[in-house]
Amino acid sequence: MQGRGAPEDLRALMGMPALAADTTQVLDLDDIHRPRTALKAAQELAARAWGADRTWFLVNGSSCGNMAMILATVEPGQEILVPRTAHRSIHGALVLSGARPVYLESPLDEEMGVHHPVEPGTLARALEAHPQARALLFTSLTPYGVAAEVEELVALGRNRGIPVLADEAWGPHLAFHPDLPVSALAAGADLVVHSAHKLLSALSQASMLHQGGPAVDAARVEVALRMLQSTSPNCLLVASLDSARRQVALHGARDWQHALDLADWAREALAGVPGLRCPGPDRGARYDRTRLVISAVELGYTGVELERLLREREGIQVEMSDLRQIVVMVAPGHQAGDLERLVGALSRLARREGPVRMPSLPEPPPPPELAMTPREAFFASTRVLPLAQAPGRVCAEFLTPYPPGIPLLCPGEVLRTDHIEYLTRALAAGIPLEGSADPTLQTVRVVASDP
Ligand SMILES: Cc1ncc(COP(=O)(O)O)c(C=O)c1O
Repeated sequence: MQGRGAPEDLRALMGMPALAADTTQVLDLDDIHRPRTALKAAQELAARAWGADRTWFLVNGSSCGNMAMILATVEPGQEILVPRTAHRSIHGALVLSGARPVYLESPLDEEMGVHHPVEPGTLARALEAHPQARALLFTSLTPYGVAAEVEELVALGRNRGIPVLADEAWGPHLAFHPDLPVSALAAGADLVVHSAHKLLSALSQASMLHQGGPAVDAARVEVALRMLQSTSPNCLLVASLDSARRQVALHGARDWQHALDLADWAREALAGVPGLRCPGPDRGARYDRTRLVISAVELGYTGVELERLLREREGIQVEMSDLRQIVVMVAPGHQAGDLERLVGALSRLARREGPVRMPSLPEPPPPPELAMTPREAFFASTRVLPLAQAPGRVCAEFLTPYPPGIPLLCPGEVLRTDHIEYLTRALAAGIPLEGSADPTLQTVRVVASDP
């Protein structure tokens, strides 16, 4: 309606210019499912900026990009190599596609309690054990700023002659500064997704999917995107992608240098605060230094508590927290004062009085055994059981502590007592559970007749 008849509160929130621009896809504004004019030109400019052969704008996040990459490259029953610690959208795509996952293990960082990207040695062994695998998908940069050895991973996939797909949701900025880790697209990946809304100035949900070579049929990607995206894409999201592209293409090197300088300054300042840990360059070149991963466990705070204290006492909202740490994304829009405020706030919180009680934090358990494909388990007959009766049963739903959004259990995997213990303790520590019918975890949905 372009704002006509809009209620006062919506007008006040969004402003008339934004409401007036919220139109359907009339001819001049082009069609995201068959771009011919303005959107075609905008996507071509984006492809040029990222060094891609082709770029598609996405209005349903990198989540739909991940799903499209899988639907376009593997058929039901065919094998795809994916990290077990992949984002939940990838596990969802396995249900949609019926592909058979060959899970790649990712190394656990015991201090952080999180997994880093898959290592080339692990992939090489999996390729040898699964000569019939039809595609490789890996996460090239984690939310914690740790980058994969992308050149080696891409080379291994290419040597095998299978499409190489990269979930680079956290890395749309990588291509624009030489001190940031190498992007999967530059390393030669065939399809790469970027959440332009996470790191660039695009609106939430606005992402891009880039094609880097001829290994994947572009028409197949488009069919998948037509199934996964709305037929009424929001113009504001699409316009924000073009605007974010222009900004980063023109000023990316300068803007991300500014972010790197601010983050380096903050990391050094935090190193002088007793009890805080904020590792950085010691992680080596494969680290996005604009990410500040800060732990105050030695001071008795879990990451979730630290996030809450920063919000409630200091009015600072960070990107995310988990059991052990908070993650702060330093972006071009930040100013020195923002980082000074963060360091000041953390220094005040670090001055704790009285005895410190170290939180007892569970270790993420080893990966579960896969009894059937995610799709088979998702569509099987299921039962809801009290939690205590679940060990040994095949899970029929996603049990995902959020953040960071990596399912601890996927449909088709066998539940063990250590999973239940971990989930119960994570819930008690304030990490919400997503994907399960019962978010309180009193009950769990399992496959009715196990194989
Ligand atoms: C590694 C990874 N991939 C994909 C996504 C999904 O991105 P989006 O929120 O743009 O759908 C996320 C979201 O946090 C993520 O962490």
